[in-house]
Amino acid sequence: MALLDDLQLKTILASAQEAIAKANSLAELTHCRVTYFGKKGHVTLLLKQLGSLSPDERKVAGKQINDLKQELEQLLEDKKNTLEISLGDTELKKTYLDITLPGRQSSVGSLHPITHTKHKIINIFEKLGFVISEGPEIENEFYNFEALNIGPNHPARAMQDTFYFANQLLLRTHTSPVQIRYMQENPPPIKMLAPGRVYRCDFDVTHTPMFHQVEGLLVDKNCTFGDLKYILNLFLSHFFEKDIPTRFRASYFPFTEPSAEVDIQCVQCQGAGCRICKQTGWLEVMGCGMVHPKVLENGGINPEAYTGYAFGMGVERFAMLDYSVDDIRLFYENDVRLLKQFSGV
Ligand code: DAH
Repeated sequence: MALLDDLQLKTILASAQEAIAKANSLAELTHCRVTYFGKKGHVTLLLKQLGSLSPDERKVAGKQINDLKQELEQLLEDKKNTLEISLGDTELKKTYLDITLPGRQSSVGSLHPITHTKHKIINIFEKLGFVISEGPEIENEFYNFEALNIGPNHPARAMQDTFYFANQLLLRTHTSPVQIRYMQENPPPIKMLAPGRVYRCDFDVTHTPMFHQVEGLLVDKNCTFGDLKYILNLFLSHFFEKDIPTRFRASYFPFTEPSAEVDIQCVQCQGAGCRICKQTGWLEVMGCGMVHPKVLENGGINPEAYTGYAFGMGVERFAMLDYSVDDIRLFYENDVRLLKQFSGV
């Protein structure tokens, strides 16, 4: 074979350039590579011919083929990169992610309005030095009734429709039994607050079978009804965040003597009379009184040496007034819209 003629090399180069330029996929590009560098590829065949050349010719031809080889390799490599980039682009377009879109908000939970109200009540009394104590929700007749001076045939038992279990066990109808349990465990002076769930067989706009109460008990030497009035007025003005007129109406509870019900001036109409206060201008918010001597005795405290006051309030009642909710059942329907409405408070 004579020296490679230029024309042959140029033809190979030109056809390769064209084929590579046309290649539209990596598969087509591989095909090009095989056409030139495969076993029977144009460049491979040229290299095979080198053996039949004289050493001098081989030197020259070898360099020419090598240059061609390098040029083609470069073309293939460049094209491969271009194809990969555009393939990557298509892939990216398929899974396009708009990083300027706002992220998905995860909503943060909040306290139930009843829990919030309970905490609000507890916080105020804790600041006044009351210690929190809790009793069992399943009580027995002794603590729920007898020890609180509510005898077996006492009409107050009928006042509170009780859920009974067997063996004189029941769901406590109020938090007052915690008074007895606490007195039995702790010597005076006592300053105790008992929040918790209570149960009564009752269901309407202002009653649910389960609701919450907060009970307060203070026992000390020389404790008076004046002290009771002072602490409750202080609590009410803190809770409603204003000086709120109150009145203590004489009432009856078996476990206190004297007993009173506490009214606040209607928070809705400021005493003018409205639907909420049934045109009276007043709202009843809790019961209270001086602890009955028999109750002190049942708690193991000498009524000759000590006196005490007690009070009990419904958490739902306070929540309804605070949030202007007029149907207690709304609190227990688990409607997220209502819960969300009060989530910021
Ligand atoms: N236990 C009463 C009830 O459930 C509320 C109550 C009234 C509690 C007067 C007291 C009190 O401690 O002195 O209706």
